[in-house]
This record gives sequence, C-alpha cells and structure tokens, in this order.
Amino acid sequence: MKRLKLKASAFFFISAAMLMNNAWSEQEYKPDAGFVWKDGAEIYAKVCAYCHEANVGPKILNRELPVAYIRAIVRSGILAMPAFRSSEIDDESLAKLANFISQKASQH
Ligand code: HEC
Repeated sequence: MKRLKLKASAFFFISAAMLMNNAWSEQEYKPDAGFVWKDGAEIYAKVCAYCHEANVGPKILNRELPVAYIRAIVRSGILAMPAFRSSEIDDESLAKLANFISQKASQH
C-alpha cells in the first residue's frame, strides 16, 4: 500500500513538472509576437542612439550612408557593434530604419 502511494506521487510530480515546462516555453515565446516598431525614427532613438548618440559608435545620421551598407552592418555587426537579428528588428522595419538614416530629409 505504501509503495503504491509513493509511485502515485512520483507520477504526479513528473506530470506537474511537464505541464509547468510547457507553460514556461509558451510564455517565453509570447513577448515577441505581435510587436511592431512604429518607424525608422523610433528604432534609431530606442536602439541605435544608445551608442550612436553617445560617442560609443560614430555619427551615422546626416552622412547619407548607403541603405545597403546600413542594412548589412545591422545584420552582421562590426567590431564593437553587435548584430541585430530579425527577431529584434524585422526586415521591413530594418528597411525603414536604413531609409531614415540614409536620407537627410527625414531627420531633424
Ligand atoms: C552597443 C553599441 C551600438 C549599438 C546599439 C549600435 N551600434 Fe552601430 N556601431 C557601433 C560601433 C562601436 C561602431 C563602430 C565600429 C567600428 O569600430 O568600426 C558602429 C558602426 C556602425 C555603422 C558604420 C558607420 C561608419 O562610419 O561606417 C553603422 C552604419 C551603424 N553602426 C549602424 C547602426 C544602427 C542602424 C544601429 C541601430 C539598429 C546601431 N548601429 C546600433 C556601436 C553600436
């Protein structure tokens, strides 16, 4: 009788752990889903300015840097600059961001 009880509680413990594990991985996935950047200016202000307006990275606004160059550097990183994956800045937002940085007229 005692042995049977032990087995039952072990079974309960394992299935509870499995359920919790499931719930956890779903939770981890959720924060990203549905999030979209408003525009290039917002991404620049919230992500790039952290270094590029603080003399950590070089000035990149108002230099008319080529769009393809900006996109390539954001995806691959360069020396002290980290790479940003599409889960952080999706392709569409990156296109807007690169246009924003590249075009003098869009900045103030
Ligand atoms: C953690 C700091 C950091 C962040 C955040 C960061 N950068 Fe950089 N970035 C750097 C540094 C440092 C360099 C200079 C690397 C080197 O030594 O060549 C650089 C270089 C660059 C260059 C090349 C500039 C040139 O003169 O050729 C571009 C373009 C650039 N970053 C774009 C971006 C964009 C766009 C973002 C936002 C998505 C961003 N960076 C976010 C640190 C950062």
